[in-house]
Amino acid sequence: MRLDKYLAESGLGTRSEVKTFIKKGRITVDDVLVKSDKMQIDANLVAVKFDGVPVVHQTLFYYMLNKPAGLVSVTQDNVHQTVMSLLRPGDYRADLFPAGRLDKDTTGLLLLTNDGDLAHHLLSPHKHVAKEYHVRVDGHVTKRTIEAFAAGVALHGEKGNPFVGELTLETITKDDVMKSGYQSLVRLVIHRGVYHQVKRMFRAVGMEVKSLQRVRMGSLVLDAGLSEGDYRALSDAELRELQKTSGACLE
Ligand code: URA
Repeated sequence: MRLDKYLAESGLGTRSEVKTFIKKGRITVDDVLVKSDKMQIDANLVAVKFDGVPVVHQTLFYYMLNKPAGLVSVTQDNVHQTVMSLLRPGDYRADLFPAGRLDKDTTGLLLLTNDGDLAHHLLSPHKHVAKEYHVRVDGHVTKRTIEAFAAGVALHGEKGNPFVGELTLETITKDDVMKSGYQSLVRLVIHRGVYHQVKRMFRAVGMEVKSLQRVRMGSLVLDAGLSEGDYRALSDAELRELQKTSGACLE
């Protein structure tokens, strides 16, 4: 690939800025000073340095965000603040997007990435990647609720939704339920991620979801050290594991 493209992708600056760096003799390839921005390099084989510091070439980015309530999970919205607005200027890239949607009032784990392949694997209903939620509902989840989920509940209609009337497959046991005053806290794992699935499942058994937090997607667990609104890059181990459990290929 062309050296100027490589440098721009590595976040050193725009194509024209990195050309200036090259002209000023600030870039070396395998310790040889480069003066032509048209130089072709093999990104996997060469050692590129900027002012003597190795350049890390990264094209795919992965951030774990602890989404706060009140923001929408889209890249652009004319009315509401989006989750992308939480990215610091140095991390923002126009090709990043949220891998999947959480409702405006839902909090918790959201992956921001520009890796379309991984996002597809995580979100495809056919891949059955587990998404774990902590759900707070009004009322007490009883044996009857557990039995109703075990039998499968029919999802009520929602505008534009293709899964109306479909029976859910997700179940809970009494160990997933904790009473909290007149409310219940429930751990629910879903595998397909039908639109508004959690709220619609509880609505189907006559219960209203009062708060919803996603805590896991496949192998990726929400970092308890992240406050709402904070985010961090995935570690290499987290990414590798997520690729593996979602069935997406590495590289
Ligand atoms: N299910 C819902 O109902 N809402 C979400 O945000 C996620 C899953």
